[in-house]
Amino acid sequence: MPKALIVGNWKMNGDIGTARKLAGAIVAGSSTSNCDYLICPPFTALSEVSGVLQGGVVRLGAQDCHAAASGAHTGDISVGMLSDIGCQYVILGHSERRSSHGESNALVKSKATAALEGGLSVIICVGESELERKAGTALAMVEKQVVGSLPELSDSINTVVAYEPVWAIGTGTIPTTEEISEMHLHISSVLEREMSDPNAEAIRLLYGGSVNPKNSSEILRCARVNGALVGGASLEVASFLAIGESCP
Ligand code: PGA
Repeated sequence: MPKALIVGNWKMNGDIGTARKLAGAIVAGSSTSNCDYLICPPFTALSEVSGVLQGGVVRLGAQDCHAAASGAHTGDISVGMLSDIGCQYVILGHSERRSSHGESNALVKSKATAALEGGLSVIICVGESELERKAGTALAMVEKQVVGSLPELSDSINTVVAYEPVWAIGTGTIPTTEEISEMHLHISSVLEREMSDPNAEAIRLLYGGSVNPKNSSEILRCARVNGALVGGASLEVASFLAIGESCP
């Protein structure tokens, strides 16, 4: 198994100055951790943060991209633009994009295909709603998202899957460790079945949704959890680094 990956999803927060300071503090404090770090600032701060991260081990990612290489797509950002600015990763299919931008599995898959073709690695987000969890259909719904969103080009190096139950994002409520393990083992078996890569069992699976320094240690020790996708707690350097320090 590769080292755990701890991802900071800054969402739509911060100006350029805040982003520069936060990235600099993460670089300064990350050298002792037993994990890989990736930070995903808003588009407007990517260039600045790219400069701060240059030559170091903390990686840079974006929070979305368009599937087309260029053209009449007002407000969108292409894979080539992200590579140009120094991104190595892009988060795709986050539940906030699935719900507020109507992103379907097919759209997520087309964006992910474009990203992989353009040399970026992808973090594909999946996760059930509260209703689906209560109805006992969480495993089936997440399986459908994984199968529908994963590009044929995916392998264990270029793709990361993040399991983020929608009801756990930003709420302070998390699944039990049994529920996290059950879902991660299920996603792992779906990937082994679906992917042509014989190393599918090595693909990194992240848990996301209300991860903080108090719960990260037990979450990161669940079966088949290889890191975390962190929202709110990634905006404070101390809590983000503490999550990294808690990696097994
Ligand atoms: P949260 O967000 O850590 O604030 O719950 C996680 C995410 O949406 O990626």
